[in-house]
Amino acid sequence: QGLHSLFVASGKLFFGTATDVNNVNDAPYQAILNNPNEFGMIVPENSQKWEAVQPTEAKFTFANADSLVTRAKAAGQQFRCHTLTWHSQLPPFISATAWTRATLTAALETHIANVMGHFKGSCYSWDVVNEALAEDGTFREDVFLQVLGTDYLAISFRAAAKADPATKLYYNDFNLETTKAKADGAVGIVQLLQKAGVRIDGVGFQAHFTVGGTPSQKSLVATLEKFTSLGMDVSWSELDIAHKNMSTATSASALSQQASDYVAAVGACLAVPKCVGITVWQFTDKYSWIPNTFPGMGDACLYTANYTKKPAYFAVASLLASA
Ligand code: G3I
Repeated sequence: QGLHSLFVASGKLFFGTATDVNNVNDAPYQAILNNPNEFGMIVPENSQKWEAVQPTEAKFTFANADSLVTRAKAAGQQFRCHTLTWHSQLPPFISATAWTRATLTAALETHIANVMGHFKGSCYSWDVVNEALAEDGTFREDVFLQVLGTDYLAISFRAAAKADPATKLYYNDFNLETTKAKADGAVGIVQLLQKAGVRIDGVGFQAHFTVGGTPSQKSLVATLEKFTSLGMDVSWSELDIAHKNMSTATSASALSQQASDYVAAVGACLAVPKCVGITVWQFTDKYSWIPNTFPGMGDACLYTANYTKKPAYFAVASLLASA
């Protein structure tokens, strides 16, 4: 038994994790990662981002991401693809070019057609547009908005639908679970695409939470239902729950609060029929992105840096076993 097999037994499609090529030579890590009962879905943490797959204009490099797809297939795992139109981790040519409406539209369409075309048949879903919103629910002032206005959303999803009719197309963002104005902005994105007759299948909630700052299960369910009522699939796409102060993260009370917070998040997905799955953003503190971005914070994962299972792991497993 593992988290994925337990979650599937509860009627869900997948429990998975982010990983990447910088983790491949770590044998104890790989022993956990490659167990398809534990993780049934793999998502590349960085290797499919624009700077990774098209570092120079019109030069595509897929070797790293391909190796992850190959490994997942060999292990009997599905693959979730991340991400196409995003303001971050763009290659230098994007900021070095004076774009017009026509040239940036063509650049987006070329990127999406090539990348999705390359991975066609391997992706359960694609995060087509990532993090388009500011915290107040207005659109983020990135190059795509500046040149194309909000049309870049329909341009991206239309190109995605054309490139791979079989994969699920997602909008993905963070803080939708905690910030009402931002969730309303995401509802607006779904409606904008639906009114334009452009396919969108789901919304990924990154679910980067903090210990003691995680919304209640009830509140999480209410947020997910705003989107399922619009016909969307939903998922926790990058779940982790960080201690705000790592120096106290090993106290019994901190570990127990983290366990309750994970149970709230997993319980909310269980309670919403169209919540199809969960991916954690790395499963061990050894490789979590959080301390690099928020110094002092971290220990957010289900396994410690030494690969022991935390109380949060056992709490999630026992919730799933009884679901
Ligand atoms: O590729 C370079 C490498 O050449 C260099 O030697 C090394 C030295 O630091 O840096 C490498 O780049 C790093 C990159 O990850 C690849 O490993 C960057 O410094 C680092 O900032 C970057 O961080 C990633 C971050 O996205 C960047 O935005 C994290 O690993 C990744 O977990 C994180 O993931 C994002 C999701 O895609 C979207 N949602 C939020 C989430 C967390 O920020």
